[in-house]
Amino acid sequence: MALKKQPFELIYIDAFAGAGRSKVRTAWEGADEEDLQLLDDEFVKAEQQFIEGSPHRALALENPFSQYHFFDADAGRAALLEDLRTEYPGRKINVNVGDANALIQELAPRLNGRNTKGVAFLDPYGPHLDWKTLEALGGTKKFEVIINFPLGMAINRLITRSGDIPDKWRAGLNGCFGGATWESLVYADRTDLFGDTTRHKVDDAAKRLLDFYVGRLKTLFGHAATPSIVRNTRGVPIYYMLWAGPHPLGYKIADHILLKGDRITPPKKRANGKSSEPEGRFRKDAHDETN
Ligand SMILES: C[S@@+](CC[C@H](N)C(=O)[O-])C[C@H]1O[C@@H](n2cnc3c(N)ncnc32)[C@H](O)[C@@H]1O
Repeated sequence: MALKKQPFELIYIDAFAGAGRSKVRTAWEGADEEDLQLLDDEFVKAEQQFIEGSPHRALALENPFSQYHFFDADAGRAALLEDLRTEYPGRKINVNVGDANALIQELAPRLNGRNTKGVAFLDPYGPHLDWKTLEALGGTKKFEVIINFPLGMAINRLITRSGDIPDKWRAGLNGCFGGATWESLVYADRTDLFGDTTRHKVDDAAKRLLDFYVGRLKTLFGHAATPSIVRNTRGVPIYYMLWAGPHPLGYKIADHILLKGDRITPPKKRANGKSSEPEGRFRKDAHDETN
């Protein structure tokens, strides 16, 4: 008996999904006080110009996914996500309210079927995406991830110039970077004329963190594209669009797409004319912000 070729089960996870459909991006309006301290009006206005609600855009695709998983910690937004079922009756939609990290870490190990492939879009507005969540997705060897990594305005601002970081922020950063290594990358000791040593934040902290993060993504998933920068109206980087995944073809496509955005550096050409993957060569001015 000839075996029938099984179709692929294509999974879409949008883990920091927001409200689903919005003409402009308004998700910041519900951010908690701590998150809002990190933002400014310019940033919010700039954000609003950039993105329509990611769940709606994924559902509206001509070639849809087989399953959609939308997660948001905010019950009001999750309720609006539920409304998408009425709008897209033909789509298989699962909505959960809760912490995206716990939800993905629970779901990912179950999505390892032979004919399963998936995309996870991860769009947190702070250091809320735990490294363990990426490990759970990378461990399936089935998922590619697209991450809006809010290094510019949110994460880098938690890393104070003095090194005096509230415990809660430090714990969040440790979770996001998967350990405490980030701290040794961004601070250096300086000794003054009197022999007193003080800690200070290095000028290229954001560049170092991005290199570190993308390098780790590459190790975890196999391939990672050169990030694309999204800036506010003053030209300051607010987040980086990152891609990582298990397949070289996916890498090639993602790298091509991200190339259309504001890139950090063009990929290095090999002698044979093909692009090599980034080794963390980032233009200094693209990263350095005040803080
Ligand atoms: C930047 S917004 C997402 C915007 C959305 N991707 C879009 O395109 O409209 C971030 C969302 O993450 C949610 N959020 C924050 N922390 C979360 C967590 N730990 N787990 C799940 N959702 C979270 C917020 O409620 C907010 O809706």
